[in-house]
Amino acid sequence: MNGASKGLDPRFLQELKQKNDIIEIIGGYASLDKKGNNHWACCPFHHERTPSFAVNQSEQFYHCFGCGVSGDVIKFVQEIENTDFMGAIRILAARAKMEVPESNFDTERAQQAKKKRDAIASIMLDSARFYLSNLYSGDPRAEAHLQYIDNRKLSPTTVKKFGLGASLDFFGLPDYLAGKGYTRQDLLDSGVLTETKTGRLADSQAGRLIFPIINALDEVVAFGGRLLEKTDFAKYKNTKETVLFNKSKTLYNINLLKKLKRKQTIENVIIVEGYMDTISLYQAGFENVVASMGTALTKEQARLVRRYSENALISYDGDFAGQKNNLRGLEILKDEGLNVRVVPMPEGLDPDDVVKRGAAAYQKCLDEAMPLIDYKIHSLERKYDLKKTEEKRSFVSEALGVIATAESESVKEDLLKRLRDKTNITYHSLERDLRAKEKEKPKDAPQEAFEQTRIAETSGADKTVKAIRFILAAKLFSTPYAKAFDIRELSFENAEHKTIAAYIRERETAGERIRPSELFEIFSEDSEELNAILNLNYEDKLSGEIAARFFSDSVRALQREAIEREIAEYNREYQAVTGEDERKAAAKKIAQAVRRRDQLKK
Ligand code: UTP
Ligand code: MN
Repeated sequence: MNGASKGLDPRFLQELKQKNDIIEIIGGYASLDKKGNNHWACCPFHHERTPSFAVNQSEQFYHCFGCGVSGDVIKFVQEIENTDFMGAIRILAARAKMEVPESNFDTERAQQAKKKRDAIASIMLDSARFYLSNLYSGDPRAEAHLQYIDNRKLSPTTVKKFGLGASLDFFGLPDYLAGKGYTRQDLLDSGVLTETKTGRLADSQAGRLIFPIINALDEVVAFGGRLLEKTDFAKYKNTKETVLFNKSKTLYNINLLKKLKRKQTIENVIIVEGYMDTISLYQAGFENVVASMGTALTKEQARLVRRYSENALISYDGDFAGQKNNLRGLEILKDEGLNVRVVPMPEGLDPDDVVKRGAAAYQKCLDEAMPLIDYKIHSLERKYDLKKTEEKRSFVSEALGVIATAESESVKEDLLKRLRDKTNITYHSLERDLRAKEKEKPKDAPQEAFEQTRIAETSGADKTVKAIRFILAAKLFSTPYAKAFDIRELSFENAEHKTIAAYIRERETAGERIRPSELFEIFSEDSEELNAILNLNYEDKLSGEIAARFFSDSVRALQREAIEREIAEYNREYQAVTGEDERKAAAKKIAQAVRRRDQLKK
């Protein structure tokens, strides 16, 4: 049953957890404050000022209401120390002076996977060293790279900080790696080498300036390579995705951002598109910068940023809002709880271009950062020449379309006033046009999404899920009113609900205590459903008279739903059969079910 216990003796795990009280362990990383049943702290996994990270001593698990992480003491050590399950076990065992018993966790497959990962990590590191040494080797072929670095105004300190390097040809890297005992397959799998038509191994970044991409654990996971001159080939090329490198989960410069966070509070994270933007900003003193590497932002990247700060400044080049993908990226950031502002950039320039004019020039842009909706209007202003009547009209019409999407009346009023000042049209007229526009197409995308979630909240399906979650939580936390209820009276469709119900039943039959934290072992992956259920244990949602009533109401509602399904089924049966006896039998079943339903209502 213990999905994550990896074959370790359950008694060992139990003793390990007993000897490593979660309060003590977490207390070593965050300062905990006892309030009610829980200890609270500012979450060590994301940046926040008011504590929303709760540790439950009696149940030995933690949960953050801000970013949603949760787990037991093992999971905590895994996350905070960036290690895997066995790594956490070893740390905790050493602390408790316990021997880690032999386990069959290190099965052949797991060992193979680890070997592969280690081999690729080592190849990446060796390659980074090779490229780096090329740059200052005195080899005449590196002059072009040095010249390029110089043209782009990067100091030697910066070059070193970012580990920039040079590929000088096709065969230098394979020759260098050949002496290091890597298998051909690992070399190909790492992405640094490719196979030529004749089957020879060659540097996949041949001739390029090399930007190592480094993760938060300081491992080189990939390389970006830039051509030194303009050609028909892609300007930048990344080594391929591997077990170490997933582009959509990585941000360039996250390694240095992590170091920065250890030194100071990060007020906001500047998100740029490119390698050069990142490096130039960093060099100019804007160290709180990461790059999305040219793609639309993903949820994983948003979460990564959220760990370091709650404020994001989008600093893409001039016309980025014109692209749908970019705007969706910003919505993703918001969804992950970041406050998002957009940094306006002079027409056609990127952050690298601006900061070349001096740190003050870029700081000025930062100072003008604005909410997305303001930014959209700001972009429109630049698109039209307001001195020309027709263009002014197009501008007003488009701007009103944007204002119509504002989330509040006060924002609308504010934006209308500014539009008035820009155009010299009266507020009254603008407002009337805005109302007309709102009627014309009342639903733009966000509004639609909003409607949808509202409907979902009140629809039957969602109520059912809420009832199920509450019942499972009440059973898991052994509330007195749930004690007598046998979970077998309900049937579940969702696999996670089934698993939790099975666990509850198993403990009850064995006459043993239900420990919610054991579920973290059963669900080796993060489960949003489990999180939602555990959430109910906070803020007294499970205690008090109302909770007891909600519990019995929920049970009854679910039972009624089940009977309704039965009745519908018998009705179908009744319609389907033709023989008189069969019809009678079906009718009897319907009548019985209806009687049970009516009894429930009482
Ligand atoms: P840009 O084309 O905006 O280039 O790509 P840049 O960063 O301003 O580059 P310079 O200033 O000309 O050197 C932004 C980012 O998108 C990714 C790279 O990460 C790049 O830094 N990119 C771009 C690629 O991966 N491949 C490409 O072909 C282009
Ligand atoms: Mn650029």
